[in-house]
Amino acid sequence: MKNDLKEILLTEDDIQAICETLGRKITEDYKGKDLFCVGILKGSVLFMTDLIKRIDVPLAIDFMDVSSYHGGTESTGEVQILKDLGSSIENKDVLIIEDILETGTTLKSITELLASRRVKSLEIVTLLDKPNRRKAEIEAKYVGKKIPDEFVVGYGLDYQEKYRNLPYIGTLKQEVYAK
Ligand code: IMP
Ligand code: MG
Repeated sequence: MKNDLKEILLTEDDIQAICETLGRKITEDYKGKDLFCVGILKGSVLFMTDLIKRIDVPLAIDFMDVSSYHGGTESTGEVQILKDLGSSIENKDVLIIEDILETGTTLKSITELLASRRVKSLEIVTLLDKPNRRKAEIEAKYVGKKIPDEFVVGYGLDYQEKYRNLPYIGTLKQEVYAK
């Protein structure tokens, strides 16, 4: 698997340092609040488990599954809800946890849906941000790292459902796409 990578963008240590920094900020901002973390499946799972260990306030977690990508590397601009939350988020301070913010189509749809459920507050934390790719009007309050417009895999991020289990994040060699 490692042989398929062209370059490593974030090492395991880089990722842990980001989680530590974000966790500290989120801890400060959510003291005394009713924090409810919503992980967006499946990409955010690895990031979520590391991040919430660094958040030192009581919190609940749940997951949503949406699809905007259909196996390739380009967004189709369509979002479909595959799994909804299992409980009410009314009056909660909701924090959406996402792996990567690219065009913003996915997060725009999710925030509109969740905001309609009478939440007390709604914010986004994303591990990675590709600001140059943005199409929808949406920004994350907490960003782990801004990256250039390149397709990345690892640490939850996939190419055709593979590479999610890599402990670091990198770019794929051109020959992998040609397969
Ligand atoms: P958006 O709707 O264009 O912002 O896309 C967000 C979703 O697309 C993310 O949750 C990822 O699942 C996927 N995605 C965007 N960029 C990448 C990438 O570089 N590698 C892997 N998945 C990506
Ligand atoms: Mg995703």
